[in-house]
Amino acid sequence: MDDASSSLVDSVLITGGSSGIGFELSKWFAKDGYRILWVALEPDELEKSRTDLLQAYPNLDIQFLAIDLSSKDAPERIYNWTYDQVDRLTVLVNNAGIGTYGQFEKNDRAADLRMIQINVNAVYELTHRFIPRMEADGGGRIVNISSAASYLPLPYAGVYAATKAFVRQLSESLSWELQARDSSVKITAVCPAAIGNTQFQKTAGMEGVRTFISPLARTTVEEVAQDAYRGIKANKDLIRTGFRFRVNYWVSRFTPRFLARRILAWEMKRAE
Ligand SMILES: NC(=O)c1ccc[n+]([C@@H]2O[C@H](COP(=O)([O-])OP(=O)(O)OC[C@H]3O[C@@H](n4cnc5c(N)ncnc54)[C@H](OP(=O)(O)O)[C@@H]3O)[C@@H](O)[C@H]2O)c1
Repeated sequence: MDDASSSLVDSVLITGGSSGIGFELSKWFAKDGYRILWVALEPDELEKSRTDLLQAYPNLDIQFLAIDLSSKDAPERIYNWTYDQVDRLTVLVNNAGIGTYGQFEKNDRAADLRMIQINVNAVYELTHRFIPRMEADGGGRIVNISSAASYLPLPYAGVYAATKAFVRQLSESLSWELQARDSSVKITAVCPAAIGNTQFQKTAGMEGVRTFISPLARTTVEEVAQDAYRGIKANKDLIRTGFRFRVNYWVSRFTPRFLARRILAWEMKRAE
C-alpha cells in the first residue's frame, strides 16, 4: 500500500474476517491483490467464508487461524502465527468485536468482561505488538474498527459504547503520536453507525432495537466497507462511514443534550 512495500506482495491480517465488515473489507483487499490472513472464532464459518471468497477471487492467497480472541494468550499466538505465514505484514485490521445489551446492573458480568477482553484488551495488545515489528519492517497500517457509539452516551449499551470510545481515542492519539515522530506506521480509526445486515445485532442481543432500522444513521455493511477502504487508501486517520451518519454526526454536535438523551433512549429500545 505504501511506496516502501510496492515491490512486495501486500498482506492484510483481519480479525473477524469471516463475516460482516471483515468479510466485506476482504473483498476490497482481494481485488487489489493482497494476501489475506483471517482470525475468527468458528472454524466452519472461516472455511465456508474462505470458499465463498475464493469463488470470486480464485487466485487469492488466503489462510486463517481459528482462535478465541477473549483468551488471554490469543494476541501473542496471532502475532506468532502471522509471521509464520508472512515475512512482512502491510495492514492489520482489528475488526472482531461483540456487543452486549440491557439494563447495566442486570447484565451478565462475565459477558461484559468477555466483550471488554475482545473489544479493548485484544485491540490494545495486537496494536502494541505489531507497531514495532511493522516499523522495523519499513512501515504498515493498523485499522481499528470503532463505532458511531464511541461519540455519544448509549443507554442499555454503555459498556459497548465505552469499549468503542477506547478504540477511537487510542487510535486517534496514537495516530498523532506516530506522525509526530515520522513513523512509517499509520493508524486509522473507522466509525460505522448501526448496520442492518451483519450478525452483530444477533450476537449482541440487540435484535429489534430501533437504531438498526432508524432513518437517522443506519447503514449497510457494503457502504461501511466501501467508505472504510476508500478512506484507508486516502491515508485518513479517522473515517466516519455512511452518508447518514456523517450528516447525523454534525447535526448532533449542535443538538441540545436533553434532546440527544431523549432521542438515544428511544433509539436504543426495542420496537414494540
Ligand atoms: N454491526 C454494527 O452495527 C456495528 C456498528 C459499528 C461498529 N461495529 C463494529 O464492527 C466490528 C465488526 O462487526 P460486524 O457487524 O461485522 O459483526 P459480525 O458480523 O458479528 O462479525 C464479527 C466477527 O468477529 C469475530 N469474533 C467475534 N467474537 C470473536 C472471538 N471471541 N474470537 C475471535 N473472533 C471473534 C466473528 O467470528 P465468529 O463468527 O467466528 O464468531 C466475526 O468474524 C465489531 O468490532 C463491531 O463492534 C459494528
